Amino acid sequence: MSTATLMGRALQERLDSARQLTDSIFKLITPEAVYSRPIPERHRLVFYLGHLEAFDWNLIGRKTLGAASFHPEFDKLFEFGIDPPVGQAATDQPADWPDIEEIHSYNRLVRARVDQLADQAPEQIIHVALEHRLMHAETLAYLLHNLPFDQKVASPPAIIHSGSRVANPMIEIAPGIATLGQRQGEFGWDNEFSEHQVNVPGFGVSKFKITNGEYLDFERAGAEPPHFWTRGVDGVGGWSYRGMFAEIPLPVNAPVYVTYAQAVAYARWAGKRLITEPEFHRAAYETPEGAERPYPWGRAEPDGPRGNFDFSHWDPVDVDANPAGDSASGVSQLVGNGWEWTATKFGPFPGFQPMPFYPGYSQNFFDEEHYVMKGGSPVTAACMLRRSFRNWFRPNYPYVYATFRLVED
Ligand SMILES: [Fe+2]
Repeated sequence: MSTATLMGRALQERLDSARQLTDSIFKLITPEAVYSRPIPERHRLVFYLGHLEAFDWNLIGRKTLGAASFHPEFDKLFEFGIDPPVGQAATDQPADWPDIEEIHSYNRLVRARVDQLADQAPEQIIHVALEHRLMHAETLAYLLHNLPFDQKVASPPAIIHSGSRVANPMIEIAPGIATLGQRQGEFGWDNEFSEHQVNVPGFGVSKFKITNGEYLDFERAGAEPPHFWTRGVDGVGGWSYRGMFAEIPLPVNAPVYVTYAQAVAYARWAGKRLITEPEFHRAAYETPEGAERPYPWGRAEPDGPRGNFDFSHWDPVDVDANPAGDSASGVSQLVGNGWEWTATKFGPFPGFQPMPFYPGYSQNFFDEEHYVMKGGSPVTAACMLRRSFRNWFRPNYPYVYATFRLVED
């Protein structure tokens, strides 16, 4: 048994708890909302209800183990997501989709069959299914963010925000080596390989992510407001933050969620620029001794005080809320509280090989039209906070929990 190791108990438990997580997210919405399309460039929510199981079944059952299909129509219908340019929305109608109960019974069958077969599949395949599901937990959260409040049924406790704006000093990062990518033998998606080193000149970086308060100055100078801002009654500067379950007065010390284009425009206005992917690695993982850390704070696995991630909140906390997660140089919240846009276009690392069982996963996006994001959001699962993980989005996609910080040479 070389690559095809039996699925460990731990992996089965992780798959079970990932299923519970995605089930619990679907329970946050009213039954009617399942057929709505909160983001024009994405599928209706009903697609995702079938997609998670169809993906697992197509990958583990059909492609890997050659199992016979028991519902070819659903296997195909729920196979792929979409990512058209902004403004090119799909035209399907709610009536084009099957009944929820039918999807639930397909899902139940898939889970039972996957659990029976999983032991025969290589561990890597189960890992792919697991992280695919966890990524969709995040995608689902930001889709749900765009539903009207009355179509959601939870009311978590409010996050406490401070009122007077924190200073955001620049921190010097020494020139040095950044190790990008994942080591052979460890789990990673195809775009994380191969591991390699890059020489990075010294630069200055803002200690904190750019805040709503900082961005407000830019908006007052004529810039467009971010997607997450809304005209509230008592908001700061006339603005409120549209949270997952409620609107709150604009939290001036929370990071501003923006598109890449907005982040670039802000940086230009401030006379600075965005961080590159290798620079992000330097800011996050370098140490004065030279060795790089697995996480900004060191070797310890991600936990509560280090940052806002792994579904600890549905919305951002203030940028200075997690000093325990600071990097060796004192840069804060490099992991969690919002992905960080980098100036680096998404492309292959040297030695890139597409995964044979999912060749389009990364390769379809090596199109010069997506930018790398690093770090993680409040709803990024802990396993994907690893150093080598890369996320990517179009520059004008406004819905994702994406932040930025400033860099100067
Ligand atoms: Fe997917």
